[in-house]
Amino acid sequence: MTALSIPTTALADGTPFPLIGFGTSSVKGADGCRAIAQALRSGYRLLDTAAQYGNEAAVGQAVRDSGVDPDEVLVTTKIAGGDQGREAAREGYLASLRRLGLERTALVLIHWPNPSRGLALETWRTLIDLKEEGLTAHIGVSNFRPEQVMELIDATGVAPEVNQIQLSPALPRREAVAFHRERGIVTEAWGPLGGREGLAEQFALRKVAAKHGVSTAQVSLRWAIDQNIVVIPKSSDPDRQISNATLEGVQLDDADRELLASLDLGEDAAWDSREHEEW
Ligand SMILES: NC(=O)c1ccc[n+]([C@@H]2O[C@H](COP(=O)([O-])OP(=O)(O)OC[C@H]3O[C@@H](n4cnc5c(N)ncnc54)[C@H](OP(=O)(O)O)[C@@H]3O)[C@@H](O)[C@H]2O)c1
Repeated sequence: MTALSIPTTALADGTPFPLIGFGTSSVKGADGCRAIAQALRSGYRLLDTAAQYGNEAAVGQAVRDSGVDPDEVLVTTKIAGGDQGREAAREGYLASLRRLGLERTALVLIHWPNPSRGLALETWRTLIDLKEEGLTAHIGVSNFRPEQVMELIDATGVAPEVNQIQLSPALPRREAVAFHRERGIVTEAWGPLGGREGLAEQFALRKVAAKHGVSTAQVSLRWAIDQNIVVIPKSSDPDRQISNATLEGVQLDDADRELLASLDLGEDAAWDSREHEEW
């Protein structure tokens, strides 16, 4: 019996997918392992990691330590920039599985497109194979702009099931979200609390939170899941972990949404994957 009741959306094939998952970037080592196991015991079932985070072993250990049925836990990992390419992506992914101690993941993403390498398409072909071989249940991308997603679709006929992008009320990414919706791609938000943009200090957000007697984090997360966008907030604090996934009582109205729209910093404020690369 879990304390949290997490709503779901659906992937293109109809598979239910949690609208609220747990981010693990910088959650490392024994302390990180405890924080992740705590999140699972509280009721989170979707964990977001990446080869690049250097914490896949801690994520796998947390799944085993949590006492939660491992079949209920959905682990997402990501192919690191240095592992892009037809064979390298397979080797990189198999190394991720070994570190996680899993035979398969729920979802694997290409972490960044890294256009200067020109290997995203070959990497995508490998992800398609990995899914066909049953080594991952679902495949997707992260930080891909619509035209970068279209290159993959045009070449392979296979659309990513998820695109994980930087998104919060400070960066609503409306064009990308609309594009994903048209193509049946689930949008997943990283940095959903907008810490890099100083979102929590913004008057408009604080006003909406005060009106409803909830935290600014809860308003940002509710605003996203109301649009069927998956959020993966990270917190090392057990109370914040629970409040970030307790959004049933947070009901935003049109006036709130109008106020939140004023927080949009514009597309140019988001990290631009035509230039920003992570290897
Ligand atoms: N695909 C990509 O390129 C990419 C890039 C960045 C991140 N990600 C993924 O997205 C996840 C989330 O993004 P993120 O970690 O950058 O940012 P985030 O989840 O938006 O924010 C995390 C920060 O907010 C604090 N926090 C969490 N809940 C809070 C609350 N209720 N009230 C006040 N502060 C709160 C956390 O501190 P405490 O721990 O002290 O609570 C932490 O400092 C990452 O963990 C990672 O899995 C992916």
